[in-house]
Amino acid sequence: MAENGIAPKARPIGVFDSGIGGLTVVSALRALLPNESIFYLGDTARVPYGGKSAATVQRYSLEIAAMLLAENAKTVVVACNTASALALATLEKTLPVTVTGVILPGARAAIAKTRTGHVGVIGTRATINSGAYERALRALNPDVSVTARACPLLVPLIEEGWLESPITDEIIMQYLSPLLTDGIDTLVLGCTHYPLLRNAITRLLGDKIALVDSAQNCALAVRDLLLQEDLNTPETNGGRLQVALTDPPDAFLRVAREALQLEVGEVQVRGVIASAL
Ligand code: DGL
Repeated sequence: MAENGIAPKARPIGVFDSGIGGLTVVSALRALLPNESIFYLGDTARVPYGGKSAATVQRYSLEIAAMLLAENAKTVVVACNTASALALATLEKTLPVTVTGVILPGARAAIAKTRTGHVGVIGTRATINSGAYERALRALNPDVSVTARACPLLVPLIEEGWLESPITDEIIMQYLSPLLTDGIDTLVLGCTHYPLLRNAITRLLGDKIALVDSAQNCALAVRDLLLQEDLNTPETNGGRLQVALTDPPDAFLRVAREALQLEVGEVQVRGVIASAL
C-alpha cells in the first residue's frame, strides 16, 4: 500500500510538458495503455521552455514534477524534449518515482530506422544546443551522421493551432531545406509539439524521409517500464485522463480535440507552487 492509501499500481501516470505538445505523448499512451489513468500538467503560464536556460528549465521541471507527485503519480513522463534534454538527470536524481524522457526512445527509433546512417533532428533551440540527441544517437551508433536544426518558430505556430497553413508550410521548408540538402534519410521530430505538424511535414517531404515521432516511442518506453516495475494498473474498464494547466486554456482545447481527437474533459487551472523537492 502506498501514499494516501492508494496502491501504486492504481495511481496515475504523471505527464508534463510546457504546453500542448505533451498531449501527443498522452494520445500515444491512451492508445497503448487504455486502462492507465493519466494526470497531465501543461505549464502554459511559462510556455515556451525552448528558449530558456538550463537552470530555469530545471527549476520549472522540478516544480511541475512536484505537482504531479502531489497527484500521486506512480511514474513521471517528461513529455517535453527540452525538459528531457536539460532536466532529466536532475529529475531522476530528485524524484522518488521512475522518470521517462523522450530523447533516448526517439534516438533508438531513429537508429533502427535509418538506412544511410544520416539522421536529421529538429527541436527547440535549447534541445538542439544541448547536443542531447547527438550524444544519444552516437552512444547507440558511433558512426551515425547527425544534422540538427533548431526550429524556434514552430512551437508558437502549433500553440496557436496553425497546423495547416501556407505560412507554416513555408517556415517548415525554410527550416528543413538544409537538412534535405545534407542528405538525411530519417528525421527525428525532437519536440513533442511537432507530431502535430506530421501531416504537413509528410506532405512537404514525401515518403523518402522516415519520420521518428518521439511521442510514440516514449509511450512504448513507458509501457515497458510499467511491465518491468510491475506497476500496470489492475483497472480493466478504461483509465481516466485529467488535464491541468498553469494558465487558462486558449487554443489548447480546440487543438487537442481537432488534431488529436483527445477528449480532455474539464481542464483545471493550477498555480505553480515553488518546489520543495
Ligand atoms: N514540447 C516541448 C519540447 O518537446 C516544449 C517546447 C517549448 O516549450 O519550447 O521541447
